[in-house]
Amino acid sequence: MEIGKQEGKSLSPYCLVLPFPLQGHVNPMLQFSKRLNYKGITRITIAITKFFLKNAKDFPAASFSVETISDGFDDGGVEKVSPQEYYNRCWKSGSDTLTELLEKLRSSGSGVDCLIYDPFFPWALDVAKKFGLTAVMFFTQSNSVNNIYFHAYKGELKLPLSEPEIRIPGGLPVMKPGDFPSFIGEYESDPERTEMMLKQFRNVENVDWIFVNTFYELEQELLKDEQFSRSSRRELIMVRAIGPTIPSWYLDKRLPDDKSYGLNAFKPITEPCINWLNKQQNKSVIYVSFGSFAQPGVEQMKELALALKMTKMNFLWVVRASEETKLPKNYIDDVSEKGLIVTWCHQLDVLAHEAIGCFLTHCGWNSTLEALSSGAPMVGLPQWSDQSTNAKFTEDVWKMGVRAQKDENGIVRRDEIIRCVSYVMEGEIGEEIGRSAIKWKKLARDAVDEGGSSDRNIEEFVSALVRF
Ligand code: UDX
Repeated sequence: MEIGKQEGKSLSPYCLVLPFPLQGHVNPMLQFSKRLNYKGITRITIAITKFFLKNAKDFPAASFSVETISDGFDDGGVEKVSPQEYYNRCWKSGSDTLTELLEKLRSSGSGVDCLIYDPFFPWALDVAKKFGLTAVMFFTQSNSVNNIYFHAYKGELKLPLSEPEIRIPGGLPVMKPGDFPSFIGEYESDPERTEMMLKQFRNVENVDWIFVNTFYELEQELLKDEQFSRSSRRELIMVRAIGPTIPSWYLDKRLPDDKSYGLNAFKPITEPCINWLNKQQNKSVIYVSFGSFAQPGVEQMKELALALKMTKMNFLWVVRASEETKLPKNYIDDVSEKGLIVTWCHQLDVLAHEAIGCFLTHCGWNSTLEALSSGAPMVGLPQWSDQSTNAKFTEDVWKMGVRAQKDENGIVRRDEIIRCVSYVMEGEIGEEIGRSAIKWKKLARDAVDEGGSSDRNIEEFVSALVRF
């Protein structure tokens, strides 16, 4: 019998999914919801902030219903206040409106059983427990990054970082200050933001399940016996990997998917990219993208532009419309023989193309997982947040690429970029990275496929929810 269905009566547990309102956080939770749905959770509602819904045209909630909460900024204006002010207002407004939403759903006869929330909204756990719900923390960043924040939260990682090399117990490699997420490494310049990141764990002992968008094989040194909390019922709450949360049509092809890409912050221009890539030789093109958010400075953009012009490889570069003014004058025309510049594309289609030889990336976690799952070697130019840690692991642990080094002014110069691109695309090292790429591509796909490590974790969760 299909899970959740009995004598025509729907017994499916009802899950409310609450992502943080940024593309890089919404998409992983949407993809995860699709997998829950496939496993038999037929009642899923996505709760998103009013401002986000207003601005995300064609919000791709698939078969899910959508409800809104308020973070206190329904008409925008987040950029005009300090992170602390956003956080405080969001805490109050988010708690109140999530409470109202849960009450509304309860009084309409559709009581929610389970809240799956992004720990960037730590107050959501308090609300879930007030309603007696099963509470699931869903981390959209890597487990190494969560682990670092957790050690800092517990005071085991002393801030500001003061040693040139730092050892943290429990599976992390030796780290240099520059390998840490910027909110840890740059604690002194923005302690308030660091405190906000650490508050993800403030009430973790009350949570019932902890999911991370990663896969066991990728971060097993940490995941082996990791728990961020022991619940008030004294059970161990293991951290479970459920990713990579990349659309099924791309990875395992199991879900009856509509080839959706998830939410796209910008309008993709993909056909010209594919037509152009079709004319290039296998593994000859550098694909460059810094995701939806990062804003490299003018000087950095100039160095990158010149490096791409000087290298012997052809390139496809995503320069968001808001960043175009940072390109050197007449650059697009100057490089038209060897480079294609677009404002956005469907990255998965590009990464899957056989012409791609390497991915020059800011190492956002979604991009990193997509590159690993596509077998695309990476050159990392991390900008902020979790990206330095992702770049460190890409180079030292997963052997999937190299991190470009900054000079004393914090700029990665053109020579260094050219060196890194050759390093991953050519010679013996290039071949070694190529072998890692084949390995990770397979392991990522196996993890979500029938009986894979992530698939089993999702299965177990669904069974427990149905039993409950
Ligand atoms: C943010 C943070 O920067 C990142 O570090 C964090 O881990 C998640 O949230 P973002 O900067 O957008 O996200 O980077 P990333 O996580 O890599 O996500 C970018 C997404 O945009 C990817 O899914 C990628 O496929 C998509 N993309 C990018 C496109 O679809 N088209 C493009 O042209 C470029």
